Amino acid sequence: MSNPLRDPRDRRIPRVAEPSVLVMFGVTGDLARKKLLPAIYDLANRGLLPPGFSLVGFARREWADEDFARETHEAVRQYARTPFREEVWAQLSEGVRFVTGDFSDPAAFDRLAETVAKLDAERGTGGNRAFYLSVPPSQFPVVVSQLERSGLHGGPGAPGWHRVVIEKPFGHDLASARELNDMLGAVFPTHSVFRIDHYLGKETVQNLLALRFANTLFEPVWNRRYVDHVQITMAEDIGINGRAGYYDGIGAARDVIQNHLLQLLALTAMEEPVSFDADALRAEKQKALSAVQIPDNLATGTARGQYAAGWQGGKPVRGFLAEDGISPDSVTETYAAIKLGVDTRRWAGVPFYLRTGKRLTTRMTEIAVIFQRAPHLPFNATDARELGQNALVIRVQPDEGVTMRFGSKVPGSAMEVRDVNMDFAYGESFTEASPEAYERLLLDVLVGDPPLFPRHEEVEVSWKILDPIEEFWAAGGRPEQYPAGSSGPAGAEALMTRDGRSWRRL
Ligand code: BG6
Repeated sequence: MSNPLRDPRDRRIPRVAEPSVLVMFGVTGDLARKKLLPAIYDLANRGLLPPGFSLVGFARREWADEDFARETHEAVRQYARTPFREEVWAQLSEGVRFVTGDFSDPAAFDRLAETVAKLDAERGTGGNRAFYLSVPPSQFPVVVSQLERSGLHGGPGAPGWHRVVIEKPFGHDLASARELNDMLGAVFPTHSVFRIDHYLGKETVQNLLALRFANTLFEPVWNRRYVDHVQITMAEDIGINGRAGYYDGIGAARDVIQNHLLQLLALTAMEEPVSFDADALRAEKQKALSAVQIPDNLATGTARGQYAAGWQGGKPVRGFLAEDGISPDSVTETYAAIKLGVDTRRWAGVPFYLRTGKRLTTRMTEIAVIFQRAPHLPFNATDARELGQNALVIRVQPDEGVTMRFGSKVPGSAMEVRDVNMDFAYGESFTEASPEAYERLLLDVLVGDPPLFPRHEEVEVSWKILDPIEEFWAAGGRPEQYPAGSSGPAGAEALMTRDGRSWRRL
């Protein structure tokens, strides 16, 4: 299939989706309102959706088509990235439909099948269907079996293509991920299952591939001979934002390390794929993940925390245990840090430190490759302890770009060397704005382009990394408290200090 970096279609001729119906389950949820519906409009606005494109919402709410169109309109006005244009909306809204129903109600799915068949006839969508399951994981099997029962999944001889999109979490552990995969596999062929990890849709994450493999500068030093360690940070300043039902019992590691952070690790650590085809890219990521080693001593090689009350943005905020819907004795972690190794010739002995947390001082995601110190400093006026290590920092968000840190002479008569930064900032180098991750990924689904969607084997190997850590934590009492608005629990600092290193400042 196409290549996300080198395919000329990406750069010169925009890829346009075929006429198709996108059926969204869970369309009244937050993700749909803030991300998915606006992304659909943005794609339409960029001319990437064909006139026949149709959107069907499915939820319990007693809405008519017009109600759903109105809600979508509001979501678009509030959250779309690109300017609102009446004519784009007018065309898009012609294909908007809504079906009221419960996920377990066969009659509702029969109505859905009729609606979709009618759209095929009226709008020339030719049997092409994508089903987006933005629903709690417990509902995946319910929806998928209804799709099969009603024949919506396609099946032998059905015209057009039939794809299913699922949002993480892909299971709760290895065993449940396998069950989920078997269940999906019984209804949809492997190539029709698109697992969304929205981090892979981010421009800055894809740019890691360009940085590594479109240049000669970095790859020669991208290994254990030059790299001291790697820090992958995903810090958030928000709390759980009303998502207690989802988050309690899941926690930071399952929520984002199992997927986003391990995917970032895989892209950082993997070998160069022979091409950027789905199979080649995913095989390299999978190999890197299979080489990951967890610490022998999980007590010193991991840390977890739970935010307590504190201050953020000048305002007092509640602790996790006082959030609505969270049980006061919950042991769910809102912060997790893990030290991992990657046992390959390239990375043996180089620690990869992963950390993530909610209600931290700031929102920031980055991959920092920290290089070894220069073996010798022939400058009297420079204190080697003061001079930091060279670093290459991929700033994933919010200040998207890349920073290179290196030593430079301080102007003056002494040969004093100090760290300076050289910066690449998206805003300064490009006039094109970055599409939202969901725009890119939704278009990939509609075009049938799978490289940016993790395959099941990657999901499995990620759970193999996390399961023993989760088991260790489950047996180990309560997470440590850290004040909201801080940089995390003391245990995470100690993890680094024991290794003679420190976290980058948030
Ligand atoms: C989601 C997690 O996958 O990513 C959320 O479930 C988290 O807990 C979100 O807040 C962060 O996404 P982003 O794109 O804002 O970094």
